[in-house]
Amino acid sequence: MDNIDWKNLPFGYRRTDYNVRCYYRDGKWGELEISSSEYINIHMAATALHYGQEAFEGMKAYRGKDGKIRLFRWGKNAERMKKSAEGIKLAEVTKELFQEAIIKAVKLNKRFIPPYGTGAALYIRPLLIGTGAEVGVKPSGEYMFMVFVTPVGPYFKEGFKPVDMMICREYDRAAPLGTGHIKVGGNYAASLRSLEKAHDEGFATTLYLDAKQKKFIDEAGPANFFAIRGNSYITPESHSILPSVTNDSLMILAKEMGLTVERRPVEVDELGTFDEVGACGTAAIISPVKKIVDLEEDKIYNYCKDGNPGPVSEKLYRKLLEIQFGDQPDNHGWVTIVE
Ligand SMILES: Cc1ncc(COP(=O)(O)O)c(C=O)c1O
Repeated sequence: MDNIDWKNLPFGYRRTDYNVRCYYRDGKWGELEISSSEYINIHMAATALHYGQEAFEGMKAYRGKDGKIRLFRWGKNAERMKKSAEGIKLAEVTKELFQEAIIKAVKLNKRFIPPYGTGAALYIRPLLIGTGAEVGVKPSGEYMFMVFVTPVGPYFKEGFKPVDMMICREYDRAAPLGTGHIKVGGNYAASLRSLEKAHDEGFATTLYLDAKQKKFIDEAGPANFFAIRGNSYITPESHSILPSVTNDSLMILAKEMGLTVERRPVEVDELGTFDEVGACGTAAIISPVKKIVDLEEDKIYNYCKDGNPGPVSEKLYRKLLEIQFGDQPDNHGWVTIVE
């Protein structure tokens, strides 16, 4: 086996041994198949290629100190994929099929699950695509569902270190009544220009505002936005935000720590009133934000004044990380051990 430098893994694709695949034809799913190929053979007129009829998920398997492999709230990802399928008329993947596929993909690639203590984990990527040949704009009659895995290091090179974000008004990620609330490829394609702009200007990511009025905060790049003000955990409510499993978990943990959770439209004008700001998602759990720059309005909002993450963000981050790796008891029924 290739020697993997677990401590310096990038957040990128790396070949593993196997992936699993299932095909939907004549109105039903077939049997799950195991493949060792990294390639798929699909029709050039597949709806996924032309009309973006595809959805995906992202989650991780974690190896604990006890050597056990843990999945975190995989049922939430299965539910979200179901919503994505409804949203762009894909064949629905049942919870049972989703579960069977992710567990099989993890078990078949056990040797790629990073050791405890390296900060790395096995990323799991379920993918659902329309494979039927169509030229007119309509849902495909055939689908492919597959799951591949790949070992990953932290999403942000900086790790749990504060990053800078830039407000973007030039390009929208998602339309007000569009597909921002589901995990479909088109949203990510629409985000690339603004992300590139942010990177070019020296920022880690973009802060998206609501597309209609540019008055409310939507998302922080491919992650949810949250802020801490006094004793409150504040996070936006909007149709164009992807409901994050991480954010949902942080809200529950915040409540248990005695914070008040406010999930509501959050105005850009509030940025100056927050004590701490963070982006949250599976990849990094929390990326604390040091600075948000509003180039158009010529404003800079500073957080982490001493250069360190805020105490509440840090506490939430540690707590969730410890649950995921099995260092803290799972009192919520969030963890599934893969035997
Ligand atoms: C647009 C977007 N928002 C938020 C998230 C965070 O969601 P989760 O916590 O389920 O990973 C992701 C990542 O999946 C994302 O792509």
